[in-house]
Amino acid sequence: MDYTSGRHFLQIPGPTNVPERVLRAMAKPTIDHRGPEFSRMAKEVLEGLKKVCQTASPVVIYPSSGTGAWEAALVNTLSPGDRILMFETGHFATMWRNLAIRIGLEVDYVPGDWRRGVDPAVVERKLTEDRQHTIKAVAIVHNETSTGVTSRVAGVRQAIDRASHPALFMVDTISSLASIDYRHDEWGVDVTVGCSQKGLMLPPGMGFNAISPKALAAAKSARLPKSYWEWEAMLNANKSGFFPYTPPTNLLYGLQESLQMLLEEGLPKVFARHDRLAEATRRAVRAWGLELVCQNPEEYSSSLTAVWMPAGHDADAFRKVILERFNMSLGNGLGKVQGKVFRIGHLGDFNDLMLAGTLSGLEMGLGLAGVPYKKGGVMAALEYLGQK
Ligand SMILES: Cc1ncc(COP(=O)(O)O)c(C=O)c1O
Repeated sequence: MDYTSGRHFLQIPGPTNVPERVLRAMAKPTIDHRGPEFSRMAKEVLEGLKKVCQTASPVVIYPSSGTGAWEAALVNTLSPGDRILMFETGHFATMWRNLAIRIGLEVDYVPGDWRRGVDPAVVERKLTEDRQHTIKAVAIVHNETSTGVTSRVAGVRQAIDRASHPALFMVDTISSLASIDYRHDEWGVDVTVGCSQKGLMLPPGMGFNAISPKALAAAKSARLPKSYWEWEAMLNANKSGFFPYTPPTNLLYGLQESLQMLLEEGLPKVFARHDRLAEATRRAVRAWGLELVCQNPEEYSSSLTAVWMPAGHDADAFRKVILERFNMSLGNGLGKVQGKVFRIGHLGDFNDLMLAGTLSGLEMGLGLAGVPYKKGGVMAALEYLGQK
């Protein structure tokens, strides 16, 4: 392999760029995970994660990817054969649905076209029709990473309340946590599912569950088999700053640093930064004459932008040109939009000039790959960024 000079542009929607401060924090020697220094650090990060989830309830940390945190949410609260309401908003919603089926749940899966978020009116209708309360949980993906479409979590909560339905409410915030405003307590979420490698600016390797009192109560009678994922053992150990098994110590050092960085910037500013970079990206895409996957402006994602390739052009061939020529990775189309869509990640440790470089690579790449487009996307984004 030839050496490529300069920095790689990691513009996939997670894992995201890991900042120097976090890399340095993780390079410290691993300590005794049963000693007092570890306990102090674990208590600090468990408190800090609550701030990021905007909750007073406990948050647990698993040495796992996001998929583990999905499974933990379900196995701790539900029993074999329980019905769960889910929505086909994209590839990740489908993966969570598949997991739910594999562990023995009965999924009521509302079909979707991958261009819109969850419709609160459908939630209300489904729950109102369920007079016997056989639906035990509603589970949605806040930010669908495969499409760049967000769902209105507060609106779904209101729909559940309008139907006066007791179902638990679970939300996957894997690509929205610490990037897009998300409020576990205010929005009445029972289980929040998160992970480390996106807005938290960490490498992959940690999954999170924020757990409401109602979810904790449900866990007492939930009968799906579990051991590694069991909340009770984790919460008991966490009280004194420990884990029931060996924790990912060096990732926790990284989390301590990234939480510090997020709180130094302030969550409102973090969200505003993501909103602004996302808007600049959409302006570039429109100026190129390309089409966004997301159809409803109310549901635009501030973490990533997914774009349709013009008919007859392969998104993966385009991504290959950009990787080879400009050392930049873009997200591929997943599942049924493979080859048809590419995704621009603009979340995590990211700023105006990094976006300017990203969009420049894209505009040059469109020309090199022979994709029909109009010039001026970069300029449209820069005009927006330069103004505000
Ligand atoms: C919204 C969403 N949910 C779940 C997952 C699965 O997480 P992981 O690949 O870390 O298991 C991802 C991964 O990108 C995701 O974007």
